[in-house]
Amino acid sequence: MASSIILHDVQKHSGGAGDALGHAHLSNGGVSLVFAPDGFGVPAVAHWGAALGDADLPGLLATTLPAVMNSSIDVPRSFSIVADRSQGWSGTPSIDTHADEVMLEGFALIGAVRSATTVTFTLCDATSTLEAEYCYRLDEAGILHVTIALRNLSPQRWVEVVAVRALLPLPARAAETLDFTGRWTHERRPQRSEVRDGTWTRSSRRGRPGHDASYLTLVGTTGFRFRSGEAWAAHLAWSGNQEMIVERLPEGAGVHRSVIGGGELVDAGEVRLPPGGRYRSPEVLFAWSDAGIDGISARFHASIRSRPTHPRAPRPLLLNTWEAVYFDHDLDKLTDLAAIAADLGVERFVLDDGWFRGRRGDTAGLGDWYVDESVWPQGLQPLSDRVHELGMQFGLWFEPEMVNPDSDLARQHPDWLLQESPLLAARNQFVLDFSLDEVVAHILERLDEIITTAAVDFVKWDHNRDLHASLGIRGSRRVRAHTQGLYRTLRELRRRHPRLEIESCASGGGRADLGILQYTDRIWASDCNDPIERQHIQRWTQTLLPPELIGAHVGPAESHTTHRHADFSFRAVTALFGHAGLEWDLTRTTSTERAAIAAWSHLYRELRGLLHSGVTVRGDDVDDGALLHGVVHADGTEAVFAWVRTATSATAHTPRVPLPGLHPAMSYRVRVREEIAASRHQIADPAWMTTDVDLVCTGAVLAAGLPLPVLNPGQALLLHLTAVGSDNPS
Ligand code: GLA
Repeated sequence: MASSIILHDVQKHSGGAGDALGHAHLSNGGVSLVFAPDGFGVPAVAHWGAALGDADLPGLLATTLPAVMNSSIDVPRSFSIVADRSQGWSGTPSIDTHADEVMLEGFALIGAVRSATTVTFTLCDATSTLEAEYCYRLDEAGILHVTIALRNLSPQRWVEVVAVRALLPLPARAAETLDFTGRWTHERRPQRSEVRDGTWTRSSRRGRPGHDASYLTLVGTTGFRFRSGEAWAAHLAWSGNQEMIVERLPEGAGVHRSVIGGGELVDAGEVRLPPGGRYRSPEVLFAWSDAGIDGISARFHASIRSRPTHPRAPRPLLLNTWEAVYFDHDLDKLTDLAAIAADLGVERFVLDDGWFRGRRGDTAGLGDWYVDESVWPQGLQPLSDRVHELGMQFGLWFEPEMVNPDSDLARQHPDWLLQESPLLAARNQFVLDFSLDEVVAHILERLDEIITTAAVDFVKWDHNRDLHASLGIRGSRRVRAHTQGLYRTLRELRRRHPRLEIESCASGGGRADLGILQYTDRIWASDCNDPIERQHIQRWTQTLLPPELIGAHVGPAESHTTHRHADFSFRAVTALFGHAGLEWDLTRTTSTERAAIAAWSHLYRELRGLLHSGVTVRGDDVDDGALLHGVVHADGTEAVFAWVRTATSATAHTPRVPLPGLHPAMSYRVRVREEIAASRHQIADPAWMTTDVDLVCTGAVLAAGLPLPVLNPGQALLLHLTAVGSDNPS
């Protein structure tokens, strides 16, 4: 039941208990977030971390203010939710706004509404121009969702919004940052650094998060790893420009040491609120865990899976035609490909780029969303019908936000471009301005018509360039509006086609965020299908997203983007740990390869229930050339692990490799799934693997480790564990 706190009560009863004390305690999923008024009566986070009980609160609330220091303000420093300079905070503010060149600050609490898991604080600046509503919701997985809404209260003045950031304090032991960078075919490369005095800022002005997106910003105790250490993390659910920060000042942040958070990056003049105007920030999600990076991922995965829009049907095995045929579209060839795919267990056939008017390469046609009659004289129906007859879904590629200058649409509507002169093309394309209603209406009409006539079940929605490269004065004010227009379009498309599934692709994983995933069902993690690269890309993409949302394809032996060769088994094991698919011209495969693909696709269908609902775990205790990762059923009764060798190492024996995440008291039957063979760099396997009977072992022993074979580099072995015995706790 919601209750209200009014500022005057908060101040008046500041020695009392409960609401009258002015604190708010949210608790859910083993996490507590406690707010207490700072010296100015503004809510400040007193605690974010392990769940606290009622008995903890008096002591916590009695100790929220630090000493008054030399050469400092004359009252104890605090770090309130507004992080307001006028109240002594010298770091990055939460709200950066002005009206008639006067900074709006000095925010005071005017009301609060709360329940056990949510609280909304309403504040107003000292000039009574701007109202700010901070909403905090702690979900069952312990993920904190924060949004900030602004309202211009002035009858005549406009408010210019420079930045709105959700910020939370961190303790001194949060000493090391981990976030991500990358490039095309090389997404989610982790980078670590020590937290130091100053501001660690990760911005994207690309009009999308980008291949180098900070993605998930983590701060942990020194040396925090997948299975150990305490960590705090933040992610912005937004597909436009953004900024995440970790900041530390010499004077700390009240009794805390540093700060984490961020928000949308607003361009100059982009958000101006007229009298009565409102701004609502994208959601910032925060996670805390004392169980390492895996603990953070477990919370995010559980939270993401609880969304009403989360895909619940088994993730269909997919074939995507891009690397199979590129722009070389031919009905006979594609029909053959579809028939072989269906025979091998594929459940969704996706026709990639190249089907629409004038699109014989990447220099022309984008924007002209009409089936190219010169290539498809009878339209897409013959292929779509055949795909459906074969029992598969039919998917189709679009890149709706883009046009080639060499397209009818660009020629007819130069006024629809996001950019103004100078027009700088990227991949020979410009961007359409999705803030314009006529653009959205046109795109919806085109997609609607094609989706309906070709009975499309799945759309691969691509986005192959940064927006920033060629923005003019008009364009630079439109990234936010464009992003909102994109969301509106996706929302409307789903309303018109409720069973349609959509993938978010941006030259691979350039737009992988929980903003776009409100309207889409999967992300394409990378244009790189080389399993050595993919192991890393998927491992780190899974810090935030569960495997069922991450497209992972088996390509041919020679990777198209790295030209490195990999055995089938390695490619196959790698693609199992995602939403699996194939990106391969199967008409050129041998009967041996087809048999291997059929066995793998069977295995995928057998294991996907577990892979797409269980807990992702990653081992720390392996040598530099190896990876150990797996998925454990939520009740601990089943697990699959991949033992992966990406490179040789100096280790010349087979030490026990800990298998994390199992129930210590359960006994497990351990099997190597021989459908997927892996070649060895040794004389014979460890003895437990060479006997006729399966190994049965407790989770406690497996946590201590299992000697695993030394594989050749570029190999992966799949272990399948099932709980045995009736004495297992369920
Ligand atoms: C992007 C995508 C690819 C493919 C091509 C088609 O690069 O990431 O998967 O769809 O576009 O042009």
